Amino acid sequence: MNSEPLYEGKAKSVYRSEEAGELVVRFRDDITAFDGEKKDVLPGKGVFNAVVSAFFFTYLEKRGIATHFIRMVNERTMIVKELAMVPLEVIVRNRAAGSIVRRYPFSEGQVLDPPVVVMDFKDDTRHDPMINDDIIVALGLLTREEIAAIRTRALEINRLLSEYFREQGITLVDFKIEFGKREGSIVLGDEISMDSMRLWDMETGESLDKDVYRFDKGDVLSAYERVVQRIIPGYFGGKE
Ligand code: C5P
Repeated sequence: MNSEPLYEGKAKSVYRSEEAGELVVRFRDDITAFDGEKKDVLPGKGVFNAVVSAFFFTYLEKRGIATHFIRMVNERTMIVKELAMVPLEVIVRNRAAGSIVRRYPFSEGQVLDPPVVVMDFKDDTRHDPMINDDIIVALGLLTREEIAAIRTRALEINRLLSEYFREQGITLVDFKIEFGKREGSIVLGDEISMDSMRLWDMETGESLDKDVYRFDKGDVLSAYERVVQRIIPGYFGGKE
């Protein structure tokens, strides 16, 4: 773990593990927005995202969704299964917000029923352009069957996450997930955190996610902390 990272993302570093087929993922305190144009370090932010990711990976595994999560080694570091990542950002939207409102004539907050699934090609130098099935197949990223399987899986994950958030009084507006392959099957990788979801308080409409940082809506760390408090009851109490 003290060695050089295998890969450094904008907010996570990935290291080789001593176990073959496993990796170590460390959630850093960096926060970025707008293709890295805006960036800051928020002490403690990595812990909030790591515990929420671990919580949801475990929640989904229990409900039959294969994920890369194995275990936490400390509050900001997890051991995961090594996957051959597919360079796609799979975005599921229950309400219109963000780029879909900028690009198409939806109004902010408009309910999307059935939910809309969008795939972006993960490439910062190209600003993650939206992609379609033909381009995915032409690039050799996935077969049509695999695309269909990912879409079905993403919608099932949406159903499970939305249900959990609803019970905590939070609307899951949208989220981004990434998948990889392991021994021929599709496995959920990356993270599920406040950096990669839009969450609105059902009563107040307040953002409880990275939009607080993107649009200077207030104290992003306390918004993240409130999500941890609401979705992992006893997390803070349990640490005393
Ligand atoms: O920006 P956009 O509206 O397309 O984002 C949709 C959802 O995907 C948001 O929850 C956002 O946080 C997430 N996302 C992400 N990483 C990206 C792009 C979007 O986590 N590179």
